[in-house]
Amino acid sequence: MNISTSSQDLIAREEQSMFQVYRRLPIAVQHAEGCYITSVDGDRYLDFLSGIAVNALGYGHPRLLDAITRQAKSFMHLSNVFYQEPQVELAELLLRHTGYGRVFFSNSGTEAMEGALKLARRWGNAREKTEILAFSGGFHGRTYGALSIMAKPLYKAGMEPFLPNTAILPFNNSEALRKAVNKQTCAVVLEFLQGEGGIVFAEPDFVNTLLELQEEFGFLIIGDEIQAGAGRTGKFFGFDHFLVKPDIVTMAKGIGGGLPLGAILAMPHLESVWDKGMHGTTFGGNPVACAAGIIVMKELYGGVMRNAHEVGCYLRENLNVLQQNYPTVIEEVRGCGLMAGLKLSVPAAPFVEALLKRHVIANATADTVIRLLPPLIVSRKEVDEFIVAMQDCLKAQAGQ
Ligand SMILES: Cc1ncc(COP(=O)(O)O)c(C=O)c1O
Repeated sequence: MNISTSSQDLIAREEQSMFQVYRRLPIAVQHAEGCYITSVDGDRYLDFLSGIAVNALGYGHPRLLDAITRQAKSFMHLSNVFYQEPQVELAELLLRHTGYGRVFFSNSGTEAMEGALKLARRWGNAREKTEILAFSGGFHGRTYGALSIMAKPLYKAGMEPFLPNTAILPFNNSEALRKAVNKQTCAVVLEFLQGEGGIVFAEPDFVNTLLELQEEFGFLIIGDEIQAGAGRTGKFFGFDHFLVKPDIVTMAKGIGGGLPLGAILAMPHLESVWDKGMHGTTFGGNPVACAAGIIVMKELYGGVMRNAHEVGCYLRENLNVLQQNYPTVIEEVRGCGLMAGLKLSVPAAPFVEALLKRHVIANATADTVIRLLPPLIVSRKEVDEFIVAMQDCLKAQAGQ
């Protein structure tokens, strides 16, 4: 890619000032609107990543901007020492639409996971249940609790020791789950639709086994909906595609519409597990972030979630055609709604680079999967634009 002096300058300054933990795209961003990002060099990109499933309403959504501006003018931060309308309104909206019993707001996904693990352990300790089980391919965040229930060596190397009484089992393996669960099992944590793991759904048989075991041993199910939740799959939660209702749900990403916001939702039977002072945060439930969350909820139920379903179906139909045309490269079209994956027979990274050259942003995950997470407001026309670019990349790869 041709990178201008001003982009190069920013990249050099970043390298000199920040920990080098991110593999960033070589784009310095100037502005973003709708589903498009414009670089400081004036290049315009179609964004099929949306801040890794965060910008549910795209960039610069007028009602979102209006709500956060009005809220910031009233008060921008109070701390949880005070009662504040935006938090309560968002909590009420979440409960009304999901049937859960209580909400706790955090700033991020990983913090929601930490809180969920603490809530489960406190529930379990009163019942002599401490073991927490999770699955390979799951991604839950970068703090110690979350990392303790994740398998990927790169994320953990040299940072041991992790939480005791945790185990990671192979995903979608009912037999391994049966062997691992016993009366000490406190909680089973899973993404019903794994994102970073390569857009992989839990298999119905595996979910049935989980529910049978829960019936027998009485543990909690924690559904990590940080990526698949907030309407991304065309339903509010990824697990809404199954007949299941986890005891605890974690959310973040899309629910804040671009501001840092996470949430723990718990079933009514857990509402008294924590007493005053047992959990807390300074920033969590920030009123401006909650004001954004309220608009996200209203927009989702006002048509955006339907769009995610309908345009998601359209996207998948088109991806299926690509798969039929390039069956040796595209092994499988995965996902649901606007959380889609193309499982390739070859590494995904060169395709992501090729897409970027055609001014389309996507992401490679689990080595061989191109992950697509466009804003939930994306149109069929923008899907067409993506498909043309993807087809072009496939043609070039096939030397056509
Ligand atoms: C399923 C899932 N859980 C948890 C997290 C962690 O969220 P955060 O990066 O906000 O801490 C992520 C982030 O990618 C995620 O996709």
